[in-house]
Amino acid sequence: MNNGGICDILKTIYTVAMTSSDTEKGRTMSETNIIRYRYGNPIKTDATVIDIPVTQGDPSGWTVSTADRTMTRTMSPDTIVYGLGETVRGINKRGWLYTSYNADDPHHEEGKHSLYASQNLLILDDIKSCCGLFVDDPGRVNFDIGYTDIDTLTISFEDMDADIYVMTGKTPDEIVTAFRRLTGSSYIPPKWAFGYGQSRWGYKSDDDIREVARRYAELNIPIDMIYMDIDYMDNYKVFTLDPERFPDLPGFVSEMKSQGIHVIPNTDPGVKIEPGYDIYEEGLEKGYYCKKKDGEELTAAVWPGKVHFPDFLNSEARKWFGDKYRIMTDADIDGFWNDMNEPAIFYTEETLSRVYAGLDELRSTEMDIWGFFKFKELLDSIDNNPEDYRRFYHDMDGTLVNHNRVHNLYSFNMTRAAGEAFARNNPGQEILLFSRASYTGAHRYGGVWTGDNMSWWSHLLLNIKQMPSLNMTGFLYSGADTGGFGADTTEDLMMRWVEFSMFTPLFRNHSALGTREQELYRFKRTDDFRHLIELRYALIPYIYGEFVRAARNDGMYIRPMAFVYRDNERFRSIEDQLMVGDSIMIAPVYEQNAVGRYVYLAEDMRMIRFRSFDDYDEEVLKAGDHYVPVALNEVLIFIRPGHRLPLAKPALRVGDIDFEDLTYIEG
Ligand code: GLC
Repeated sequence: MNNGGICDILKTIYTVAMTSSDTEKGRTMSETNIIRYRYGNPIKTDATVIDIPVTQGDPSGWTVSTADRTMTRTMSPDTIVYGLGETVRGINKRGWLYTSYNADDPHHEEGKHSLYASQNLLILDDIKSCCGLFVDDPGRVNFDIGYTDIDTLTISFEDMDADIYVMTGKTPDEIVTAFRRLTGSSYIPPKWAFGYGQSRWGYKSDDDIREVARRYAELNIPIDMIYMDIDYMDNYKVFTLDPERFPDLPGFVSEMKSQGIHVIPNTDPGVKIEPGYDIYEEGLEKGYYCKKKDGEELTAAVWPGKVHFPDFLNSEARKWFGDKYRIMTDADIDGFWNDMNEPAIFYTEETLSRVYAGLDELRSTEMDIWGFFKFKELLDSIDNNPEDYRRFYHDMDGTLVNHNRVHNLYSFNMTRAAGEAFARNNPGQEILLFSRASYTGAHRYGGVWTGDNMSWWSHLLLNIKQMPSLNMTGFLYSGADTGGFGADTTEDLMMRWVEFSMFTPLFRNHSALGTREQELYRFKRTDDFRHLIELRYALIPYIYGEFVRAARNDGMYIRPMAFVYRDNERFRSIEDQLMVGDSIMIAPVYEQNAVGRYVYLAEDMRMIRFRSFDDYDEEVLKAGDHYVPVALNEVLIFIRPGHRLPLAKPALRVGDIDFEDLTYIEG
């Protein structure tokens, strides 16, 4: 095994020269070094946008075994491993086993290995040099980052058919930029999508949504979006509306738009099997659904009951489904959230038969303790069963590929179906689009939200740690369900979460059916909530400006502190303070009943303690450690010396903010 430095001398270097448009974009890197290695016969994923010739041999520093389907290297004790996007645990990924295999799993606990998204980017940072590794393999890939052996990093593959890209640079920022050059620039949503959004699984009719708008208006709390969850559909049939509960979509959309509010529907991939339902029949006739080995369509059950899954990996089927978004955009809808696209499978007939057979067997015997465990195991194996993911195939424009092999491409291509359709059918129009599941490449078409979290303080902290990792992988437009989706929230958790989410590009309060209602007007301290949302709106010129700059320069909007203060040892292990844009640092409070927190500063900084956009105090704190009080309704922003923070006068809608009329707080 080669134990050399992270960025050993590379055998062949392919230099991606700067184009003139790169220069115009103000990119600071002089060159990007990317080398591609190939093992086996990789599937064409379209994750990358530039074609790099394949270099023979193995990446320097790695021991590759195609027989074991692994690649391994040692890590020195102080090497930080960044990346992987939306996963459990910390910003430094060391010490756990992560599996890339998009999972519909609402239990985001630290013992889990997979969440909804798979971004196979690692950045190894040993201060003097950095090395990036992108594993372009859309099947199951394990990243054992010091789990089996604390000093060893092992990547293992189910099938070793992968393109491996090695990127070198002096800093993690350079790797991030190289990765984006390789995989394409990030999606930029419309400006209004930086406003606040209210959602809940449970709004059943247009009147429910009108009521949400009315209650926010009554309290003068800014809001730009209200989301329509699955109940707007007719029996959960994609691209339909319940005729009684939403009798006039164009009229309703225009009524909401006259108030400055965008309504954003949820879109699921499964097409309900129902003779007479035009979309179902069309897809069947054209052969656009995923099929089993025997050529019959796969039938799975999700919200609508039994469905077929559109084959997004087939370009014609992708275009067909994408064009259906016109049903909504023709009604002037201009934003969508794509959901359930791992794809989530509640059950298949095949799995149910196996489970029933197992239960029948148990029923005929006296149940002992092992029988009881078997019983529970059988029930737990019904949804998202790995056997079901092996049961169907994609027609990748002429090549039949088993779903399991390309599992992580499904959501990417659903997002792409929508993104390509918008470019085709709504040219020049900016449309909001984000997804639950994802794979590298989807960041060119839309953003992501982090799925079904819980109303737990630990999930607020998880959200804080996920944001920089998502940014590294190009998913700049991202955020979590503010306040928590599952379980019952509390007023203080919601307030602390709002104080963090006000810095995330996607800022949406969303919750699950049956949980405590958590619209901001449900709580006691509505004045504080109004002040906080107004502060977000006052910050939008800064947030939007820094976001667009990061997207255009292939950089990051939210960064770990260690990316910025490169020679500072302390910041290599601080994960609860983050850089937002280039000028400010945030230090969110994420513990219940906390009345303050410790912060560490590498340089003197001006700390602003905001209670509202026009009620704050400020103080210059010296470099070093500080304990700072932070009352429940307060937000801390630290401005770097030589930088300044612009503040607008908040408005009730993003469109009414005057981006020219700004005041500045100097750092
Ligand atoms: C999934 C989504 C969640 C949504 C629910 C009902 O659980 O992740 O956001 O509310 O489905 O559509």
